[in-house]
Amino acid sequence: MNDKHLENTTANKFTRREALKLAGVGGIGLLLGATGVNTLLPSSPKNEQTSATPTGADEVIPFYGKHQSGIITPMQDFICMGAFDLTTTSLGDVRSLFQSWTQAAARMTAGKNVDEESDHALLPPVDTGEAMGLRPMKLTITFGLGASFFDERFGLASKRPAPLVDLPRFNSDEMRKEWSGGDIVVQVCANDPQVAFHALRNLARIARGKAVLHWLQEGFQRTSASDPTGSTPRNLLGFKDGTNNPQVSDPATANEVVWANTAESPAWMAGGSYMVMRRIRMRIEVWDRSTLTDQENTFGRHRLTGAPLGKANEFDELELDRKDAKGKPVVPVNSHAALAHMEGKVKILRRGYSYSSGMDLKTGQLDAGLLFICYNRDPRKQFIPMQQKLASVDRLNEYITHVGSGLYACLPGASEGGYIGDTLF
Ligand code: HEM
Repeated sequence: MNDKHLENTTANKFTRREALKLAGVGGIGLLLGATGVNTLLPSSPKNEQTSATPTGADEVIPFYGKHQSGIITPMQDFICMGAFDLTTTSLGDVRSLFQSWTQAAARMTAGKNVDEESDHALLPPVDTGEAMGLRPMKLTITFGLGASFFDERFGLASKRPAPLVDLPRFNSDEMRKEWSGGDIVVQVCANDPQVAFHALRNLARIARGKAVLHWLQEGFQRTSASDPTGSTPRNLLGFKDGTNNPQVSDPATANEVVWANTAESPAWMAGGSYMVMRRIRMRIEVWDRSTLTDQENTFGRHRLTGAPLGKANEFDELELDRKDAKGKPVVPVNSHAALAHMEGKVKILRRGYSYSSGMDLKTGQLDAGLLFICYNRDPRKQFIPMQQKLASVDRLNEYITHVGSGLYACLPGASEGGYIGDTLF
């Protein structure tokens, strides 16, 4: 998806040397705000192995801040995402889990090991080790809570946000438990799949005795190395995907589309967001046999350029009332883009990745598709009505099936010294 929605990562523009100079004149706190110097500079106390040396400060996405990173952060190349079920019934345990996760996540996003290593030869190493020597690679770690988190176990039922509804069943859903739900979701994104996997694995290790993995899904898009221009990536059906995403680098747009506020959400969610995950399997073999005209009419856009049908350039306006010489709409009314446009009145921020999970042994077909992820301020007014419309008439339905689903309340960001979830627990 398009990376035009740039987050303000001023701190990232500073080199390590510049940061040190500024620290010397006492300016660092001012410049870095909640980010803090630790996310820029690798500390190296005795016995601590740094898993990575952030040679380019632009490779660190600050972990601390008003919002969690990984939401309006421009998309990295890979995702490794896990849902956890809590095995503890103690709220104290949940609190300490989030405290430990916060510390570990702040360290790993800064390119460090999950914690300081001990030299104890008779103990397992503290960090699993596979990211040692690797750079931070714009790692972000984003935490969210599913509806099941607010059941009777922790006494938090009254705190469940109204927008965190149980998603309805949509037409032609074929949901599978192994790809759906979970008490907690952790979205890990990075420009290196090993860095992303390392982070999720170490968080799962920290959770031992308190939470277990419910599902784990991985995804990719073209890498920044194969497309240094950062043009809109293509999905596995060959079309540019993300063109008409809202420009959330504009704070007013981000507030309108993405960030929860007290109009709909409880105060503890202010600055958070609601994430929808849909695992959407594509019938790739059927798609590959359909004609170019069929494919373009399915999306309402040209395959090569990504432009709306009848237009030349990718970012040309999608004019749905344009008619051809016979009076027929140029962009078919049941095309995906026409329907998802929602008359320009309803918007979501899409942040999905392609997935490929080998082959379906029953049919011999590829098990591949879209790990659809979107963020919205209130899914009752955004994702749900949009998906209701798409599920009933979208031409794309011939080629896709939704097989996994989840809705999660992604917590507000934390400031240094605090922890993710401290507004709730
Ligand atoms: C496998 C499933 C899907 C594929 C392959 C897909 C692909 C695409 C493509 C190629 C576009 C046109 C380019 C662009 O603006 O990004 C698009 C637009 C869009 N899609 Fe999807 N999409 C899928 C599922 C969904 C779902 C489940 C939703 C939300 C319920 C959704 C919401 C949107 C929106 C909001 C737009 C922009 C519409 C506009 O122009 O305003 N898509 N999608």
